[in-house]
Amino acid sequence: MVSANDIRVKYLKFFKDRGHVEIPSAPLVPENDPSVLFTTAGMHPLVPYLLGQPHSAGKRLVDIQKCLRTDDIDEVGDTIHHTFFEMLGNWSLGDYFKEDAIAWSYEFLTKELNLDPNRIYITCFAGDQDAPKDTESAEIWKSVGIPDERIFFYPKKDNWWGPAGATGPCGPDTEMHYDMTQKPHGPDCKPGCSCGRFSEIWNDVFMQYNKNEKGQFEKLPKPNVDTGMGLERTLAVVNGLDDNYLTELWQPAIQKISQLSGLQYSGNEKPFRIIADHIRAAAFVICDGVTPSNKERGYILRRLIRRATLQLNRLGIKSYVSAAGELVDVFI
Ligand code: ALA
Repeated sequence: MVSANDIRVKYLKFFKDRGHVEIPSAPLVPENDPSVLFTTAGMHPLVPYLLGQPHSAGKRLVDIQKCLRTDDIDEVGDTIHHTFFEMLGNWSLGDYFKEDAIAWSYEFLTKELNLDPNRIYITCFAGDQDAPKDTESAEIWKSVGIPDERIFFYPKKDNWWGPAGATGPCGPDTEMHYDMTQKPHGPDCKPGCSCGRFSEIWNDVFMQYNKNEKGQFEKLPKPNVDTGMGLERTLAVVNGLDDNYLTELWQPAIQKISQLSGLQYSGNEKPFRIIADHIRAAAFVICDGVTPSNKERGYILRRLIRRATLQLNRLGIKSYVSAAGELVDVFI
């Protein structure tokens, strides 16, 4: 079995060997960005540098950023969604662009993680009134070995990242999806569908635009690369598991819930996953200084705890305060 730490170490080394400097994760509570409540991606702390300010560590950076996203909170309970997760990211601040970013992504997936190249599917931006179709990325993917029939073009809602708030850096992206089951689950089954066949593991964003207050997309002085690889999903894929919660990142908590409830994970997957996800997220949020309350960050924390508690109750665990405490201990 490949461990989460094997992936973290390999990723940092791979990009350091290619001239990147490692920077630490920023806190989950953004330090200088009032436009969002939590850090939802590695780009938040880097917005000023994506807009052109020089970064003290240079033009090539690599990091592992703690992220919290609640826009997909209702999806948590399936095999791949989480509120809190770790995002591995490599960055070019006005340095390399599509060619290197895509070639390195492919090399890392196929040579370092040994994923089957035949199971990698790609999506690219289809183009609209704001930016052209990203045929350039598709051509680079073809040149590294991905055939036409595994490259899909999607609109802005799928293949565009940012800005993080209402304004700021953004651009088209190209996503890497892994075919988990190698079986179509219906005639329209393709990367991005929710049938469970594909897992999106990595996203290379080509930040070339600044969305201004008038909603216009103006070209940035220099284009950047922002990539994000979800550690939890990648760990599952690399180990051939079609459920993130079967990996070592989650199994200790799943076993603890089983012990506390006297129930098996199998047959109770949804409540087990929600409890594990939400308690882990709440622990990280508290760790970064938030306390439960009825507004903003505190409200989100309260919601995570309340939703976890509801599921603990549904599993028949009446002493849910001590159960939550035992689960936090597992994650610590
Ligand atoms: N910022 C990009 C994402 O979060 C990489 O997917």
